[in-house]
Amino acid sequence: MEEKFKELSEKIEKAKEGGGQKRVEAQHAKNKLTARERIHFLMDEGTFQEIGMMVTHRSNNFGLDKNKPLGDGVVTGYGEINGRLTYIFAQDFTVMGGSLAEAHAEKIVKIMDLATKNGAPLIGLNDSGGARIQEGVVSLGGYADIFYRNTLASGVIPQLSAIMGPCAGGAVYSPALTDFIMMVENTSYMFVTGPNVVKTVTHEEVSSEELGGASAHSTKSGVTHFTYANEIECINGLKRLLSYIPQNCEEEAPKLPYESTDESRSKLNEILPENPNQPYDIRDVISETVDGDSFHEVHKDFAENIVVGFARLGGRSIGIVANQPAFLAGVLDINSSTKGARFVRFCDCFNIPLLVFEDVPGFLPGTDQEWNAIITNGAKLLYAFSEATVPRVTVITRKAYGGAYDVMNSKHIGADMNFAWPSAEIAVMGAKGAAEIIFKKEIKEAKDPEAKLKEKEAEYAEMFANPYNAAARGYIDEVLRPDQTRERLISAFKMLENKVDTLPKKKHGNIPL
Ligand code: HXC
Repeated sequence: MEEKFKELSEKIEKAKEGGGQKRVEAQHAKNKLTARERIHFLMDEGTFQEIGMMVTHRSNNFGLDKNKPLGDGVVTGYGEINGRLTYIFAQDFTVMGGSLAEAHAEKIVKIMDLATKNGAPLIGLNDSGGARIQEGVVSLGGYADIFYRNTLASGVIPQLSAIMGPCAGGAVYSPALTDFIMMVENTSYMFVTGPNVVKTVTHEEVSSEELGGASAHSTKSGVTHFTYANEIECINGLKRLLSYIPQNCEEEAPKLPYESTDESRSKLNEILPENPNQPYDIRDVISETVDGDSFHEVHKDFAENIVVGFARLGGRSIGIVANQPAFLAGVLDINSSTKGARFVRFCDCFNIPLLVFEDVPGFLPGTDQEWNAIITNGAKLLYAFSEATVPRVTVITRKAYGGAYDVMNSKHIGADMNFAWPSAEIAVMGAKGAAEIIFKKEIKEAKDPEAKLKEKEAEYAEMFANPYNAAARGYIDEVLRPDQTRERLISAFKMLENKVDTLPKKKHGNIPL
């Protein structure tokens, strides 16, 4: 038996060595950790249980029969993160560049199936040269097996992807099918076709980092939801994100202990500028309203005219969607609609109540927006809110104009509680634009058209630039002072805690894509 134990220990040691000391050093030299180091920092100490350590590939092509590394370039298993069960796969770049082959894919598939059947989050740490070139179509099949499971698991368990190295070609589609993507600055990239192909086809000269680095995907494409300066920060980001979300679609996110104290927040009375056309940062409203420093922003650098993220209110996890008057006046456009819609749908999948702060002058006009389908894209946000059955509460801080009033979680599309501050302006459009249209003739014929316009603008504003018409009809449940907001929201979400709402029976809806 001693001999057998010795053989086992040797095999385990061999598997843990990965691609060998030289390749590990090369990985470190690039400011990257190895797959096992990443898991070590991510999982609670002593909880990680590896599955499939002895798996090897079955290919004999191009001399691969002489190189059958244990584990086949991916470490898979389960463990705990802050005491909660989590499944993980981490590609090992030190073994054949973390390339995905038949056996490598089978290991990932096994973990995905376990995560889905057992209702716990799945984390993928991606660091791979893509399909293992020596294996041909079986690697492509392996990718498709993963994509298929990503799709089936969508909305069942949270799926998080951290990109910690190359992720190119069709490989990008597994992370793209998951709920959140994180990237590490300067050491990770994602693209469908790399710089060489781009140069051949479009004659553009672009580096990997410019084309598909963390900065490109956080600001230009919106593909990544989070970026981090290094891998440790990224790992901490994964842990923080998980703390706001439940294990699966049938559970609730973990609650933190909360004791009610004086919930009035007088600072909220001072955030809005006197001039209704002056910007302010909606993040100030959010952070004054939620628990401590609990706001965790998602998609921070993309479509900044809408702010989305998780927070805690009275210890309970909520999702926040807020127009941002400090950027493009908080207008809704294609990117902000898509960003908002995606976040709303995530929260709805996973029973996370939604809080909306609304200050929106309308949709962004222009040929660029119209020709790139603001109609279809704006409809995504409308659809996402309309379909959401989680508790939904809105606070209108200032402007709620036009179609954007309807879209931003209005009572009419199923919101449960709608509040407005006294500064709210709920109307078809701004007073000036409205006066120019409905009093066009009168203004044109006036002795002093400018003075007439001002007079009519004031008249319209007096009638509509307030929350009281909407409140008189019950579209707004309560007009409240800003300092009362936190207390009312805690109470509203508590009241809605056991909300049950169902959609009409259907196979699935057809969100305008
Ligand atoms: C087999 C691979 C590999 C791959 C890397 N390696 N990619 N082996 N299949 N796809 C091996 C290398 O041979 C090398 O082995 C080791 O991994 C490290 O690679 P290096 O090139 O030395 O590392 P680096 O200089 O950091 O460059 C990393 C890289 C480069 C940019 C990822 O390796 C590269 O361009 N690889 C090929 C990428 C690619 O074209 N993949 C296929 C894409 S198509 P040794 O033994 O020398 O250490 C695809 C389709 C998916 O993925 C479709 C899904 C639907």
